[in-house]
Amino acid sequence: MNDYSKELEIAKQAARKGSEIIIQYTTDKDFDIELKGKNDLVTDADLATEKVVLKIIQEAFPEDQVMAEESQEERRVPEARTWLVDPIDGTTNFAHGFPIYCVSVAMWEHREPKVGVVLEVGRDELFSAVKGQGAYLNGSPIHVSKTTDPANTLIGTGFPYRDLYLVKHYLELFEYLMHNTHGVRRPGSAAFDMCCVAAGRYDGFYEYSLNAWDVAAASLIIKEAGGVLSDWEGGDNWLFGKRILAGNEAIHSFLLKAVEEHFTSEERKAEQA
Ligand code: IPD
Ligand code: CA
Ligand code: CA
Repeated sequence: MNDYSKELEIAKQAARKGSEIIIQYTTDKDFDIELKGKNDLVTDADLATEKVVLKIIQEAFPEDQVMAEESQEERRVPEARTWLVDPIDGTTNFAHGFPIYCVSVAMWEHREPKVGVVLEVGRDELFSAVKGQGAYLNGSPIHVSKTTDPANTLIGTGFPYRDLYLVKHYLELFEYLMHNTHGVRRPGSAAFDMCCVAAGRYDGFYEYSLNAWDVAAASLIIKEAGGVLSDWEGGDNWLFGKRILAGNEAIHSFLLKAVEEHFTSEERKAEQA
């Protein structure tokens, strides 16, 4: 039986090499920024990092498929063995010199994540998980928090900045959470946010408008850390459904209820892949 040790090793290697390239670009401060769409940035660093990450994966596993943000976009839950790569999750942060961005590498097989690695570049925090083998931060086991009272929680989110049609209800939910939790954070990298749930730093996380490569690795890290993950209707269409909700069991339920109260059922509906 495959214990995915080689896949994990390659995912870590690819993330580390990717991180070195990103650091080089931050040191040189020499990169072009282009717009793929409204508020959708891409830099030379995204492209160079993706190239190297894919090269490492494809040399090790030439038979496998890849799905990657800058070169191999696709909207299909992977049937065959597929690597899902976001070379820089947090490009807007990177482009502005704001210090939170990650390399995210996942391997999916049989329509579920088997290996997930997220490396936060600035603090060199490597989050990893293999299906059935627990979640780790720099080699030490991590777990979701045990907090059950929403009043004692810290919640993570991301604000939509391309598709703005849900903003009004987003802000109403934000206000509700400001009144009913310790606070809400928006660091700017969904992969990092989700790993913060896995590590028990946040008790829950929700966001609208995410893509498969943002969440493909961190989803496994949350699950292996004992967390619960769903779309905004409590279902499992979160890879391509654009809406994601996660937390320890109690806070996942709390957020699901809060989302139900602030968005119409039409707005909560996951998009179909
Ligand atoms: C973005 C980040 C951000 C989230 C955006 C994503 P990118 O990814 O994860 O936190 O709010 O929706 O697109 O574009 O930096 O790879
Ligand atoms: Ca991303
Ligand atoms: Ca990206």
